[in-house]
Amino acid sequence: MCDGETVLLRQLTEHDLGTMARWDADHELTGLMGETVRTESESRARFTKLLSDRNSLAMAIITQDGLLIGDIELTEIAWRSGDAELVVRIGDPEYRGRGMGSCAVRAMLEAAFERLNLARVYLRVCADNRRAIRCYLKCGFRREGVVRRKLGPSGDARRVVLMTIMRSDFARIEIAS
Ligand SMILES: CC(C)(COP(=O)(O)OP(=O)(O)OC[C@H]1O[C@@H](n2cnc3c(N)ncnc32)[C@H](O)[C@@H]1OP(=O)(O)O)[C@@H](O)C(=O)NCCC(=O)NCCS
Repeated sequence: MCDGETVLLRQLTEHDLGTMARWDADHELTGLMGETVRTESESRARFTKLLSDRNSLAMAIITQDGLLIGDIELTEIAWRSGDAELVVRIGDPEYRGRGMGSCAVRAMLEAAFERLNLARVYLRVCADNRRAIRCYLKCGFRREGVVRRKLGPSGDARRVVLMTIMRSDFARIEIAS
């Protein structure tokens, strides 16, 4: 299902924390995500919470050679309604724009709909993050609307696009491919 370079998802481990903490401290990357940089101890606390949270599924994105290049999460999983939020980042800029993010998103959607039996996955993305929006559209997400939100260290209001994909949309894309 990957139209670019293939990646794999695996469980996150304690060994990944150092690399993830480096990404958490990257101003450009956190800016793209509408987030604020984290200190190492904040990264560790978030990582520990994420791995023990029964309403989240967090995975490492690795190349076929096993190199860690990003992470991807389903968070805020609402087991009754079947909703969850998706968050993804390719940490190393060298690996962006090569189809790897789309490949990881598709693999996570497969897990969401076929393994976890969720009904809907949504995400929020800054409207100026054109590459991310293109990636999500390629994976079958639709735009639902735009809101203005104060994000990041400056606290400036940014336009944020809400996007969603339903299980039925994903099944249709899978059958077609
Ligand atoms: C968003 C992200 C996960 C996407 O993964 P990726 O591997 O870079 O994306 P892909 O290569 O699969 O797809 C990107 C698409 O956007 C297109 N694109 C790249 N720059 C673009 C731009 N400025 N405007 C419009 N489209 C653009 C690419 O051409 C490609 O489309 P195509 O396959 O039709 O040619 C990754 O770029 C990333 O982690 N970025 C930093 C963190 C981030 O922004 N996370 C998302 C927060 S919501």
